[in-house]
Amino acid sequence: MTRTLITGGLVITATDETHADVLIEHGRVVAMATPGTQAWTADRVIDASQQYVIPGGVDAHTHMELPFGGTFASDSFETGTRAAAWGGTTTIIDFAVQPKGSSLAAGLDAWHAKADGQCAVDYGFHMIVSDVNESTLREMGRLVEQGVSSVKLFMAYPGVFYSDDGQILRAMQRAGETGGLIMMHAENGIAIDVLVEQALARGETDPRHHGEVRKVLLEAEATHRAIQLARVAGAPLYVVHVSAEEAVAELAAARDKGLPVFGETCPQYLFLSTDNLAEPGFEGAKYVCSTPLRPREHQAALWRGLRTNDLQVVSTDHCPFCFSGQKELGRGDFSKIPNGLPGVENRMDLLHQAVVDGHIGRRRWIEIACATPARMFGLYPQKGTIAPGSDADIVIYDPHAQQTISAATHHMNVDYSAYEGRTVTGQVRTVLSRGEVVVEDRKYTGRAGHGCFTPRSTCQYLN
Ligand code: URP
Ligand code: ZN
Ligand code: ZN
Ligand code: ZN
Repeated sequence: MTRTLITGGLVITATDETHADVLIEHGRVVAMATPGTQAWTADRVIDASQQYVIPGGVDAHTHMELPFGGTFASDSFETGTRAAAWGGTTTIIDFAVQPKGSSLAAGLDAWHAKADGQCAVDYGFHMIVSDVNESTLREMGRLVEQGVSSVKLFMAYPGVFYSDDGQILRAMQRAGETGGLIMMHAENGIAIDVLVEQALARGETDPRHHGEVRKVLLEAEATHRAIQLARVAGAPLYVVHVSAEEAVAELAAARDKGLPVFGETCPQYLFLSTDNLAEPGFEGAKYVCSTPLRPREHQAALWRGLRTNDLQVVSTDHCPFCFSGQKELGRGDFSKIPNGLPGVENRMDLLHQAVVDGHIGRRRWIEIACATPARMFGLYPQKGTIAPGSDADIVIYDPHAQQTISAATHHMNVDYSAYEGRTVTGQVRTVLSRGEVVVEDRKYTGRAGHGCFTPRSTCQYLN
């Protein structure tokens, strides 16, 4: 039996901050006590004095190896989960994809095959339903039983992942029956495709035009429409990667009516802007993702939404493509730039910087990055908190260390950083995943295959 004791740190959860010793046995937290009050013995003692002791991060939105735009996201489950561990994230929820014309089961099997035996930290799956029909609607019930209790639908990307309003309504009605949570990519893709075609015809081919055609109004409109469809279906709704102030307003209005409508934003919308998309010499391609980066003015509304709980979760939408050879596919045509940004390694640190900057408090940091994603997607209190009975997914975090984010030092398999040169205060020191030390004093000690598929219950944020 391995007993580990973490001593002297400030334990921070979504609800409490207390100096406590944490005792771990068989991969779980078994007890917590005021420092020095118990005569606990252990095989391993980790001194966390002057450090925070926080739950491992739960990143509810990643795309390892996602096929997109004729290529694949550059992080495998092995490299992506190792980078997650380095960044203090001990659970990811990735998106299995139903290939068009195929079954949900086939898509899920394929994603299990990619991840099985590869992951450094625990993982779960959502399912991208790219073809809502009688057969896939039936399959949605089985998914929930298999621990895949959420599906993503797209109002964007016609011809690829897109569902029309009728399909969306039917999937939402079905989710109402199965207890599954509908996650929505809310952008009016049909209208956006018209604007893309017109922009290209005018010779507007640079990356910044990606941001211009994917208009704020078309995110707000789709968000509004998704909310009304969910209302008609009597189902809860989780809107992914919210970037526009006007979309936050739609969520806030729905929540003011008491509707079970939730929203996620991502670090790129909180820290980056259309200024990045406009960087010269095709550099802007590094920042092409959808929903797109917005003018800087939108950031205040996102921070406010995170404080008022109109936005509940910050996930990364980690979907890396190398600048060289992948983003470059869109030289001369912004619509061919694969969509997505790297970030799974940076989320906990960037959000800690938000604590330092005064945007959020430190318990809210843990709430939006660990506890609420765990509750939203049926993993709580196994994940997302530090309490007796919880998995010992724990980060020893140095709140005073300074670091400069750079592709030269990050561990994601991508040749650039979206946050290159940014100095932040705070750094992960040591990471435990189910009691096993996977990062020890900034040395990687984990292994591919330690991470397990973690079946999820239905949404726990509704009650
Ligand atoms: O640009 C993005 N977000 N790529 C990943 C796919 C998605 O829509 O989440
Ligand atoms: Zn202290
Ligand atoms: Zn999306
Ligand atoms: Zn995504």
